[in-house]
Amino acid sequence: GLPARVRIHEVGARDGLQNEKATVPTAVKAEFVRRLAGTGLTTIEATSFVHPKWVPQLADAEDLYQAVADLPVALPVLVPNERGLDRALALGARRVAVFASATESFARANLNRTVDEALAMFEPVVRRAKAQDVHVRGYLSMCFGDPWEGAVAVPQVVRVCRALLDMGCDELSLGDTIGVATPGHVTALLAALAGAGVPVSALGVHFHDTYGQALSNTLAALQQGVTTVDASAGGLGGCPYAKSATGNLATEDLVWMLRGLGIDTGVDLGRLVATSVWMAAHLGRPSPSRTVRALSHQ
Ligand code: HMG
Ligand code: MG
Repeated sequence: GLPARVRIHEVGARDGLQNEKATVPTAVKAEFVRRLAGTGLTTIEATSFVHPKWVPQLADAEDLYQAVADLPVALPVLVPNERGLDRALALGARRVAVFASATESFARANLNRTVDEALAMFEPVVRRAKAQDVHVRGYLSMCFGDPWEGAVAVPQVVRVCRALLDMGCDELSLGDTIGVATPGHVTALLAALAGAGVPVSALGVHFHDTYGQALSNTLAALQQGVTTVDASAGGLGGCPYAKSATGNLATEDLVWMLRGLGIDTGVDLGRLVATSVWMAAHLGRPSPSRTVRALSHQ
């Protein structure tokens, strides 16, 4: 069966914008987050407290976070290390996310570490966050395929998932960073995780739409009991450290499918489309979301 309700973890302001070449003014990002909150989305990933040389677009993390901190929604932020955690905690952040990799190539490219060195870097982050009752999400990238290594073996993914949970992460997000997954692979990974004792309630899915499979993969995950789905308004996105990563699953496409299935998200689709059209005007190109195109005149 399918769940009655799905929680959308909106990543447009972080994953969506991190790859934009032209700097988006902080005020525009803040307005984007405000408009997203006005659509009924309850979890809006705001930014990343990473090294500004690694992700120049998010160098304004402090200013952006302060500009939206009053919103009555959860505002998780990415923190790769203790320095990032310190920056986030100084602003009162109550939800943080570490981001691991299932493959050595991406761990090196994204974090300048081996997989296990990155896990060791996260350990004090998670410990200190949990000591302050801060919610911790653990992202896991390259769960299906890797641009340098090809297909990623399921046991390799299960191992890092277990390590993140054992460390104390409250939830995991299974990333198809480059959008190569297909539904059978999704089902197989979720079955293997269940077999390894990972509760499905702790799992979210994070699909990029490079091959147009993101919605199909999401449906496969819902059928396995997943109820947290990451998506990006208007289908913005991509990772600067993963060749061939494109935008995330568009939140509008997700809401359209869920609405048709009778699954509640609490999101006002009309307002969301209007938000993505507004953002597309700022970015100077139309949204790649099919649903945004269908429901707007852009
Ligand atoms: P490094 O070069 O190894 O850093 O980078 P380091 O630990 O050697 O430190 C070097 C200097 O950076 C030091 O300064 C630190 O203080 C400073 P110095 O002493 O030389 O003056 N520094 C920082 N400054 C500000 N904020 C910080 C910070 N950390 C160190 N947090 C590092 C290691 C992790 C910092 C770097 O690799 C990094 O910032 N990576 C971030 C990459 C990133 O954000 N990628 C995109 C997000 S992941 C993604 O998109 C995938 C996802 O969507 C899921 C999916 O699709 O799969 C989540
Ligand atoms: Mg991503």
